[in-house]
Amino acid sequence: MDMSIEPLGKDFFARVCGVSFKSPPLGGVKKTIVEAINKYSVLVFPNAAPTEEEHLAFGRAFGELQLTSSSLSGKRKRRIRPEFADVSNLDLNGRVLPADSRLAHNKHANQLWHSDASFRKTSSKFSFLAGIKLPRSGGETEFVDLRAVWDALPEKTKQKCEGKIAIHSLLASRRRVGFHDFSEEERAAYSYSPHPVARVHPGIGRKCLFVGSHADFIVGKDEVTGRQFLDELLEFATQERFICSHKWTPGEVIMWDNRCVIHRGRPWDMSVIREMRRVTVDGDGTTVVDGSIVPGI
Ligand code: OGA
Ligand code: MN
Repeated sequence: MDMSIEPLGKDFFARVCGVSFKSPPLGGVKKTIVEAINKYSVLVFPNAAPTEEEHLAFGRAFGELQLTSSSLSGKRKRRIRPEFADVSNLDLNGRVLPADSRLAHNKHANQLWHSDASFRKTSSKFSFLAGIKLPRSGGETEFVDLRAVWDALPEKTKQKCEGKIAIHSLLASRRRVGFHDFSEEERAAYSYSPHPVARVHPGIGRKCLFVGSHADFIVGKDEVTGRQFLDELLEFATQERFICSHKWTPGEVIMWDNRCVIHRGRPWDMSVIREMRRVTVDGDGTTVVDGSIVPGI
């Protein structure tokens, strides 16, 4: 089947039809997907319905996959293999997690705006989220175009962002949902990772604002002022005009570029199953080395 790309916005969000997940994309198909993700930042593949193996192989075609932080700390038993983020409200036995359970509370942070794995030094490049069982109402995923956000920022704010480094941590986003229940080991395992607040996307050369709920403070600013500035930037970025909301159909896979997109899940009736899984391609390198921003990452 021929591939077709239907933009859903001007240069943000497109539907890509005719891509089979039965085998990983090679040659021209992969090249077209890379061009499309560079142009649109978020791609929806309908009727993909990959098996676990197909999902892994598809992601690996674009780079090395990250292991999830819960599998790295090795403490929590997992429902699915370590390369998958378990984006579901299911327990180890496939039953719906009680909404007040520790795990459900922790996962609630997915409903805050974020860029996947920005709490890691290499952050991440692409995410591939597969929708398996979706609620009839609610549970949408929303995306913000951080390239458009940068372009729209007032000149003075752009200048205030230039050269600034924010420190990202998983503990910061969990704190925002009132989750403090970390063991000493978990606390030690989660790193504080520096990333530039203004980032140039290497694939397209456009500047993007890089913020989200893992961003905790700014190097060289006192904690309160830095956090206030990050909050203001996030508030600006998440205006209606920059958001694209997606209502899931089972079998879809959505690919997005974490270097220029933030996203969040929307609430749903948590007594109903919402089951998705994600693979995440590692970033091309650390964005900051010895306190200096590395260009081209
Ligand atoms: C993710 C994520 C949001 C959602 O998979 O990385 O943040 O809609 N998902 O659950
Ligand atoms: Mn996410």
